[in-house]
Amino acid sequence: MVLSYRLLSTVTKLSLVAGSAYAESEYIWPNAKTDLLESMLYEQQGLGSGNSPATFIVPCEKVNFGTGRNGAAEWLRTAYHDMATADVVAGTGGIDASIGFEVNRDENPGVGFNETLVNLAAFLTPRSSMADLIALGAVFAANGCSNGNVTIPFRAGRVDAKGPGAPGVPKPEQPLDEHITSFQRQGFTPQEMIGLVACGHTLGGVHGVDFPEIVPVATDQNTQTFDTTNSGMNAFDNTVAVQFVNNVTQNPLAFGHNETTNSDGRIFNSDGGEVIGKMADSPSYFYQTCTTLLERMINTVPKGVTLTDPIQPIAVKPSKLFATINSNGTMTMSGSIRVCYLVLLRRVI
Ligand code: HEM
Ligand SMILES: *[C@@H]1O[C@H](CO)[C@@H](O)[C@H](O)[C@H]1NC(C)=O
Ligand SMILES: *[C@@H]1O[C@H](CO)[C@@H](O)[C@H](O)[C@H]1NC(C)=O
Ligand SMILES: *[C@@H]1O[C@H](CO)[C@@H](O)[C@H](O)[C@H]1NC(C)=O
Ligand SMILES: *[C@@H]1O[C@H](CO)[C@@H](O)[C@H](O)[C@H]1NC(C)=O
Ligand SMILES: *[C@@H]1O[C@H](CO)[C@@H](O)[C@H](O)[C@H]1NC(C)=O
Repeated sequence: MVLSYRLLSTVTKLSLVAGSAYAESEYIWPNAKTDLLESMLYEQQGLGSGNSPATFIVPCEKVNFGTGRNGAAEWLRTAYHDMATADVVAGTGGIDASIGFEVNRDENPGVGFNETLVNLAAFLTPRSSMADLIALGAVFAANGCSNGNVTIPFRAGRVDAKGPGAPGVPKPEQPLDEHITSFQRQGFTPQEMIGLVACGHTLGGVHGVDFPEIVPVATDQNTQTFDTTNSGMNAFDNTVAVQFVNNVTQNPLAFGHNETTNSDGRIFNSDGGEVIGKMADSPSYFYQTCTTLLERMINTVPKGVTLTDPIQPIAVKPSKLFATINSNGTMTMSGSIRVCYLVLLRRVI
């Protein structure tokens, strides 16, 4: 039985159809480094889906973390807070799962981080680091809540930190110049900061239980969402930008009662409203910006970590193959072979 065969020509053909922009390197099954993550990425539904963390948060309306909470929003925020302590010049921090050592810092309030990490830890294996899972969580959150409008190529190879990193997650009461400096340390220009914040604050909201000075605690969790697309609290779309430029006073970090904590307002207006205006005017500009910036966010890793090429769906993928020689001289084979149809492929990636 031949267990290793070449899929190069098929994979190349499929990716051209999917509109892939990057060059293909030859894939030969099996690849210990990426096969498990490939399944998590592309087997979100149906057979094998229990092996993907996507089952927790996709589809987006799957609110199962308690009143006023949304799993996709928490996973995306977790990824940002893990990355936000990066110093790209020094080559430290980034997506390295150091957030696991930092949950008790006052820059990380809320149960969302712990629960995200507990959910993801169920998928932790020698072939799927916590840091890769955190990055994958951000990919699922943006993809699921945008119905595929945000599709971030996923590269593997992130390495888990052995301890906490330096502090440095932005807080809403900081002045604009500190936010600009903080995003520059993370590798983002002032204009990219505007985009990245809008792409994050399209999901979820501010919880009164964690920020009573911003959202008065009246009811359980008392969540005030960043925008009004709240069937299930969430849509990854440009409504947050549209409502900001139209002065709809929904966003508690833009129109809150205390000017000091209106960081979204200061950030969105920091270039005279240009970027947020473009995001409001054009859903496709919004989606393009978010795809690019979130990809850079998850690919921010410490010096010395090398990521793989983007993981492409394997066209034909065997799993759990097993052969037994029976006592009567016959051979029994079992296992499954996954075939990725084009139409499925276009919808999934
Ligand atoms: C100056 C920068 C930023 C500040 C000051 C800030 C501040 C905050 C605050 C105070 C909350 C409320 C958290 C809660 O009550 O649970 C929040 C929520 C959130 N932030 Fe940010 N944020 C910033 C940038 C970002 C970025 C860049 C992203 C991602 C790309 C992001 C993603 C999120 C998400 C998804 C939520 C909703 C969480 C939920 O509903 O559970 N934030 N942010
Ligand atoms: C998160 O988990 C840590 C470590 O188990 C614990 O000390 C902390 O109180 C938890 N934080 C929240 C907000 O639940
Ligand atoms: C992508 O976004 C557009 C514009 O917001 C929306 O009309 C469309 O339904 C979205 N696509 C999917 C597959 O949901
Ligand atoms: C929103 O408020 C600002 C500041 O008061 C004002 O300059 C702008 O014209 C308003 N925009 C709309 C659409 O009302
Ligand atoms: C506004 O928020 C800042 C920072 O949290 C706080 O120091 C200040 O007392 C608040 N002001 C009011 C009027 O609540
Ligand atoms: C041989 O043994 C296998 C396993 O016990 C059985 O499934 C199969 O029917 C047998 N075949 C013949 C020809 O007896």
